[in-house]
Amino acid sequence: MTQRGALPRMAWAATIIAAAVVVFVATNWRAGSHTARVIAAPHVVAAVEHPFDPDWPEVWTLVSQKCGSCHRAKNDCSDFTSYELLITAVDERGDRLILPGNAESSSFFEQVNWNVHARRDSIAPDQPTMPPEQSEWLTAGQIFTIRRWIDHGALEYKLPDQCSPRPLMEIDFPSAKVCKGCHPRQYEQWSSSMHAYAQHSPVFEAFNLTLIERTSGTIDTFCSRCHTPVGTTLGENGSLRNVHRSRISMEGVTCIVCHRREDARYKSNGRLRITPGDLNEECIYGPFESSHVEGVDFHPSESSPYIKTSQFCGECHDVTSPAGVRLEEAFSEWLNSPAARQGATCQHCHMGPVQGIAIPDNHRPWGRSAEVPGVPAEHLPLRRITDHSFAGPDYSLLPDTEFPHKLDWMYEVDYRNPALLTPHQQSTLTALRHKNREALARADAKRFEVLSNAARLYVSQPNRAKCGERIKIAVDVKSIFSGHNLPTGFTAERQVWVSVEVFDPQGRRVFATGDLDDNGDLRDSHSHDVLTGATPADRHLMNFQNKFISLTTRGTERSVVLPVNRDLAPLSLFRPAAGIPISFGRPFSFRIAKGSIPPLASRGKTYHVTLHAAGPHRLLVRLHFRNLPPNLLDHIGAPHLKQLLEDVVIAEHQAMIQVDR
Ligand code: HEC
Ligand code: HEC
Ligand code: HEC
Ligand code: HEC
Ligand code: HEC
Ligand code: HEC
Repeated sequence: MTQRGALPRMAWAATIIAAAVVVFVATNWRAGSHTARVIAAPHVVAAVEHPFDPDWPEVWTLVSQKCGSCHRAKNDCSDFTSYELLITAVDERGDRLILPGNAESSSFFEQVNWNVHARRDSIAPDQPTMPPEQSEWLTAGQIFTIRRWIDHGALEYKLPDQCSPRPLMEIDFPSAKVCKGCHPRQYEQWSSSMHAYAQHSPVFEAFNLTLIERTSGTIDTFCSRCHTPVGTTLGENGSLRNVHRSRISMEGVTCIVCHRREDARYKSNGRLRITPGDLNEECIYGPFESSHVEGVDFHPSESSPYIKTSQFCGECHDVTSPAGVRLEEAFSEWLNSPAARQGATCQHCHMGPVQGIAIPDNHRPWGRSAEVPGVPAEHLPLRRITDHSFAGPDYSLLPDTEFPHKLDWMYEVDYRNPALLTPHQQSTLTALRHKNREALARADAKRFEVLSNAARLYVSQPNRAKCGERIKIAVDVKSIFSGHNLPTGFTAERQVWVSVEVFDPQGRRVFATGDLDDNGDLRDSHSHDVLTGATPADRHLMNFQNKFISLTTRGTERSVVLPVNRDLAPLSLFRPAAGIPISFGRPFSFRIAKGSIPPLASRGKTYHVTLHAAGPHRLLVRLHFRNLPPNLLDHIGAPHLKQLLEDVVIAEHQAMIQVDR
């Protein structure tokens, strides 16, 4: 079934090979005494015994994603859920849908074929009969592949039986688009989540490639293993650009990454084992004690109590670098939190009806876990349903044509040029962009919801003051959730800070902290303007971002933007430490200085401001959240994304201070 069985099998295969070598050597040694004839193994796969067609994986991906939710057992159309069923399917007259060698006469081809290029002289119909949904109609390339596959004999791609364990292929891992057929709600929520975005993220791609380059490739799949667990399982290397990755790899933390995990690995730093196999062959693990539904045929499933634990999320939400630096600690922080003591898990706060607030399972809304085409809703049990949008403060930096959804034909045509598009393409593109914007707006609403449940701002200041008097403005930030620190996770990059501004009666700013420099950066030691002396450093800055701290070759410490050194040249030996911490070129000792606010804790500061002008002064205090600092994007070579960074104001306080002569 799985790799557990695979090891003994491998050992067995090794024994066979060893035995074969012995026989080979023995026969040749004997042969050598007569004639020196060596029979080489043939270079080609035998024609009849293992028929295969390299088009099959593409055809199967298409059929399982676009047809499988309707075309399955016990529904009123033919069953396409395996090669055997597809190839033997017949219409109501008993004629086969697929006639191997003859696509034009196969009704399967007839149903999906249509005039994709809107050519006047085409004899193909203007619309296909199948699939019913317009956005799912086959593209020119897909129709071509189906035609070629049938014309070449409609064969399966099958490796010889003795090839076991065989290499994994993309079709061994069902796509979220397959699940969408019967779980549209979970799919819609997940698809605009950061889990779906994990590998698409242009920041992730740029960051990962920067680190790969600076470590001379030695981190390999360290980064991609959590951001694309299936891609990593398929053997894609760490430096592969997104355009060259498989489609399932681009789904990032996709459904099966969480629902095909049979065993608990605890803090595994993203080393997961996802069971390969067809949807209807391998088990799906879920939260229900039993999910047998009378009269409905669907994938095998089993209850997994582990899926409801924080450890389950902690397999990825605790990131330790290969050198032992604890880069992310959401799970470790949770372990020591009041929430853990009260039994509130990640799922309670991140998968319930309100993002960021612990809501017990039995207060979740009722609904159906599946909507199966052809099956009336009442046939399925009522369940306490979850929310799969996994809202956090992060959001997509991609254009609305790329995320959450993209249409198949957009990979075959340059959709940026409207002149090249057929009316069908134009209308589906417009519909797609509307749909994407709506989905992103829904995700945004949840993002603001989780942030609004994170912290409160408390400010006290005098209402009156005298000219030249030094007043005190006291600001406290209180975390109002018990689950982990604020910020958590990607904390060396997430910024949560306080800005305090005072304006005189003429509207001139007379005091500022937490304001931004010309590059949009906070005025701290990472700001280019501060480092070059163009802007003074912000001495009062209250920023809860964590910072990477590296030991310099002189023995002092310095806050750095990236966890690797700029300089790849190896150090000479006359230096403080001899270890190789993350990449060559930096002495040992690399750590994170934690600035984040622990669960339910407060952090505060008192600002002393001298007011010189008489009249009303305006005080503006804000608590901000920003997913990434602009200088990080400069460091990883993605400055074009800076304009998309959003400064979210979590809380605001305004007051007037009357200054008397
Ligand atoms: C939303 C559900 C749905 C989807 C998705 C769908 N079909 Fe169908 N299909 C049907 C139904 C229902 C029928 C029976 C229609 C009828 O008898 O008029 C059917 C009929 C057919 C038939 C005629 C033979 C038969 O089974 O009755 C073929 C061939 C076919 N579909 C191919 C496809 C292909 C190929 C895809 C995917 C590219 C696809 N369908 C996607 C619902 C669907
Ligand atoms: C043909 C329809 C269909 C497809 C396709 C499908 N499911 Fe399901 N799934 C169901 C039905 C029906 C249930 C049972 C619902 C219930 O018990 O309330 C279910 C239940 C589940 C459960 C809960 C299982 C449990 O025991 O707790 C999970 C998790 C799940 N599906 C995940 C997936 C994933 C992931 C995919 C894609 C790889 C997928 N499903 C594809 C129909 C489908
Ligand atoms: C008591 C509720 C609660 C619990 C329990 C909880 N969280 Fe959160 N989580 C929040 C809130 C509120 C935020 C938004 C504030 C923030 O970003 O830190 C958040 C934010 C996050 C973020 C985004 C952090 C960032 O700033 O980028 C991640 C990742 C996260 N949680 C993961 C987890 C994981 C994993 C667990 C379990 C180990 C967990 N959370 C448990 C409430 C909770
Ligand atoms: C990051 C992990 C993760 C991903 C990705 C994920 N799920 Fe889930 N899913 C869970 C967890 C955890 C639960 C159970 C939560 C609980 O009950 O507290 C769950 C529950 C479910 C359930 C049963 C409860 C319900 O709401 O109906 C279904 C069905 C399901 N998931 C389907 C899917 C599908 C389909 C996808 C992909 C589109 C998906 N899941 C992606 C973690 C995940
Ligand atoms: C396979 C690894 C993996 C597992 C398992 C996993 N996550 Fe994640 N999660 C990620 C990655 C990677 C990201 C960041 C994606 C990105 O933005 O590039 C993420 C992002 C998130 C975010 C959004 C953070 C933000 O800044 O917006 C939340 C919330 C979250 N996960 C919660 C959970 C919860 C709850 C679970 C358990 C049910 C879970 N995750 C399980 C890998 C995982
Ligand atoms: C053990 C799992 C794991 C590993 C390994 C990992 N990450 Fe992540 N990554 C996560 C999780 C979980 C989050 C979400 C945390 C949050 O939002 O606060 C995340 C978030 C991110 C983000 C922010 C989201 C975004 O897309 O903008 C970036 C960028 C990122 N990781 C880059 C990297 C790089 C580069 C590496 C390699 C050095 C790496 N990650 C290794 C789990 C991992």
